Amino acid sequence: MNFWFVVPAAGVGTRFGGDRPKQYVPINGRPVITHTLERLLAIRGAGVLVALHPDDDWWPSLAMAGDPRIETVAGGEHRAESVANALAALADRAGGDDWVLVHDVARPCVDPADISRLMEVLANDPVGGILGVPLADTAKRVAPSGIIEGTEDRTRLWAAQTPQMFRYGLLREALGRALAAGIVPTDESAALERMGLSPKMIQGRADNLKLTRPEDVVVIGAILEAQADAAATGAPREQAL
Ligand code: C5P
Repeated sequence: MNFWFVVPAAGVGTRFGGDRPKQYVPINGRPVITHTLERLLAIRGAGVLVALHPDDDWWPSLAMAGDPRIETVAGGEHRAESVANALAALADRAGGDDWVLVHDVARPCVDPADISRLMEVLANDPVGGILGVPLADTAKRVAPSGIIEGTEDRTRLWAAQTPQMFRYGLLREALGRALAAGIVPTDESAALERMGLSPKMIQGRADNLKLTRPEDVVVIGAILEAQADAAATGAPREQAL
């Protein structure tokens, strides 16, 4: 059984703004994409495919661009298309039952221990599942006008994170079907749910944040620093903060 990491990294970061795509913003001295890929490379034996924007001229300047363990493919217009392109590039190598772990390039704080746990918990699952956390805030439905229309019952609401781990064959079929129907799922799980399948939710760490807005840089920088301190001293991460 093979494991593949697919990293959609072809976004331009509209919500983030700035002079470069957010995955190339330096945090604690290194670009976000470098932090993220190092975490994935810590899981030995899995292939790593990164979907890049066709006009990306930042990637070749990274030391990591020459790493033989990393393969790049051209991304698409949306995240789902970027992932679909990476899956297509695996067609002659991946078996239908191989596991694919899709991980946002913009989540550099992911704990390799959480990835290992996801792989273990789902090892014999027929479908797969994702990391996520129960919603901490009260969730409101808001009209485009800014008026609050209602309050969701948050007891069963979770925020979906990545990695999202699914069988190669099922994931390829699910994304292909959704895209063919004109639906662009914002995560992999949504594509499988559409097919009537039941992915599992595995609770991850709340600090597996996605870099989305400029103010996230400071928070993610502090988390990465605390993780590095904890790794150096062996202390629990929360104490290093
Ligand atoms: O914009 P957002 O952070 O939600 O994007 C999630 C992930 O999808 C990011 O890692 C981004 O680089 C990726 N993406 C992509 N191709 C696109 C749009 C987004 O790979 N066309």
